[in-house]
Amino acid sequence: MSGRPRVHVVARVPAPVQAALEREFELVPEADDVEGLVAIPSVRVDEALLDRCGPRLRVVANYAVGLDNVDLEPARARGIVVANTPDVLTRATAELTLALLLALVRRVAEGDRLVRRGDPWRLEPTFMLGHGLDGRSLGVVGAGRIGTEVARLAEAFGMRPVLLRSTDPLEDALACDVVTLHCPLTPQTRHLVDASALARMRPHAVLVNTSRGPVVDEAALVEALREGRLAGAALDVYEDEPAVHPGLVELENVVLAPHLGSATHEAREAMGMLCVEALRAVLLEGRVPRNVVP
Ligand code: 8YV
Repeated sequence: MSGRPRVHVVARVPAPVQAALEREFELVPEADDVEGLVAIPSVRVDEALLDRCGPRLRVVANYAVGLDNVDLEPARARGIVVANTPDVLTRATAELTLALLLALVRRVAEGDRLVRRGDPWRLEPTFMLGHGLDGRSLGVVGAGRIGTEVARLAEAFGMRPVLLRSTDPLEDALACDVVTLHCPLTPQTRHLVDASALARMRPHAVLVNTSRGPVVDEAALVEALREGRLAGAALDVYEDEPAVHPGLVELENVVLAPHLGSATHEAREAMGMLCVEALRAVLLEGRVPRNVVP
């Protein structure tokens, strides 16, 4: 027995985070009789997992800002503190949103495929034309930290952001040239962008999703894209991750990333350190962590 609090971490973490965890905690390979748990979005923190962790569990640090994978009520009922990792991934996720949007409208991924296939090509005035961002309206669904940062960065490209709060009519965003999603996944936002919302978008418009897959009805999106009712989509998240709707894979006007929103060395290390801080606060210092989920 080391005397240090037992903690289970559900996934591999960056080396500096691993080292920080090892300094202060006893890391155990199973969620079994632990006082702390580090979770990620692809792991459901439900009653069954809380049961497996055992009655000594006092803190769950979610290595994410999104909390849709954590069943907060049962955790609260057991007096478990839940923490997440806001702020430190805001810029990384906003940057990826712009990266995906640019890749889509300037056909970067499509061009990359063409070059790699060895297709014949030559520079001419009509070859692989895309669209610029200057002057385009940007409907930002979710005016939180990430949505606000996306709007700020987009302004540097000459875009005209329209920030949509949860009480604002979705129409305000759907009328824009680009619709980008930054809301949390909740029962209210599940399939927020469904067949009816897609039908209200303009045919030249594009959709970007770096929030959570189930905010979009993927089957309806494939239909809209196939029928040319929408010009394109850039997606980082999927309804049934890591599975991707086969209809999306076939389409050239779709850019697909493997949930890279916060995937920078800087963001992932900072997120990990916030998790360590939350574990330390609860298990070693007996206080409420600053990144506690209220
Ligand atoms: C994850 C995310 O944190 O923070 C979120 O809500 O979606 C991601 O950035 C990431 O996949 C690491 O767990």
